[in-house]
Amino acid sequence: MSLLIDNIGLLYTGDPEREELTGAAVVIQDDRIEWVGESGRAPQTDERHDAQGRAVIPGFVDSHAHLVFAGDRTAEFNARMSGQSYSAGGIRTTVAATRAASEEALDARMRALVAEMRAQGTTTVEIKSGYGLTVDDEARALRLARQVTEETTYLGAHVVPQGIEADAYVRLVTGDMLAACAPYAKWVDVFCERGAFDGDQTREILTAGTKAGLLPRVHANQLTEGPGVRIAVELDAASADHCTHLTDADVEALASSNTVATLLPGAEFSTRSPYPDARRLIDAGATVAIATDCNPGSSFTSSMAFCIALAVREMRMTPLEAIRAATYGGARALRRDDIGVICAGNRADLVVLDAPSYVHLAYRPGVPMITRVFSS
Ligand code: NIG
Ligand code: FE
Repeated sequence: MSLLIDNIGLLYTGDPEREELTGAAVVIQDDRIEWVGESGRAPQTDERHDAQGRAVIPGFVDSHAHLVFAGDRTAEFNARMSGQSYSAGGIRTTVAATRAASEEALDARMRALVAEMRAQGTTTVEIKSGYGLTVDDEARALRLARQVTEETTYLGAHVVPQGIEADAYVRLVTGDMLAACAPYAKWVDVFCERGAFDGDQTREILTAGTKAGLLPRVHANQLTEGPGVRIAVELDAASADHCTHLTDADVEALASSNTVATLLPGAEFSTRSPYPDARRLIDAGATVAIATDCNPGSSFTSSMAFCIALAVREMRMTPLEAIRAATYGGARALRRDDIGVICAGNRADLVVLDAPSYVHLAYRPGVPMITRVFSS
């Protein structure tokens, strides 16, 4: 089936050759983009969608989300907004609820969140385990996630669960748990942070994951400066995520690497923390992505538009840089070149905004403006 999306007021393609087009049209053939050009010059198609002068953007690529969990942490959020600070320890509350939940309940919750994201323009989502922390519970989470996305991440190293010594847990994460999870995962991730895993443990776990055929990514430098970013670059990780507390050496390392700095402003918002400085990273030449970090503890939002607005207002990004980070940047953070950019041959993932420009995503924060999502 071929479809023409015509009368696009402003098309943000993300293609550096022609990043923005006015009066544009796109032709989709089945699950691929077939043609991009001037409205009125498109080839014949089976069907036509009139965009009526609206803006069209690539589907958002949310490269960091934790969607397999049960329970919520309303009380913890409420306490934080009353002055308490965030710590990695809250993760264990969700671990207890997730272990106790049925597979059906976890699956339904995850699918509801994916649908929520889709309705808000996200057409690719990465999903991590990390709230099971036993061999069976981690494998269960990844088995479920694999049914809705190919971008699945083994995060057995989220925190050390209660009742086991750190060394023994690292052995489990790099041994039996990895073996049970690897068949369902593309990526391996570690929460490298004080109170979670240190530099040596992070390197050991990522290296074991790589040997099992997984690709590394890291929760790095979220709450404190630390070795996470350096290790991510050293191991050629696709992404170092959070990047809130960076030294000049971290920024330089990212800028001269193939590792994307993925910023998660929903986490700073929900933990009332200082935001990372995207300007510093972009000016140094690093590739930046924005993702939601959707999880019940530190960032319970599924809205990429909200994160774009935060990035523009709080992280010194321009609207153009923010939309690029939420599409092309996310694709780079997943080492994908078939999504995040509207060009012939790529997947047919497009979003029609009820607005004349993508700038409205930040200019009109909190206002729903995703009118149509085309998803391959
Ligand atoms: O990305 N930083 C570690 N993991 C999550 C938080 C998870 C939680 O608090 O439940 C994050 O922010
Ligand atoms: Fe996270």
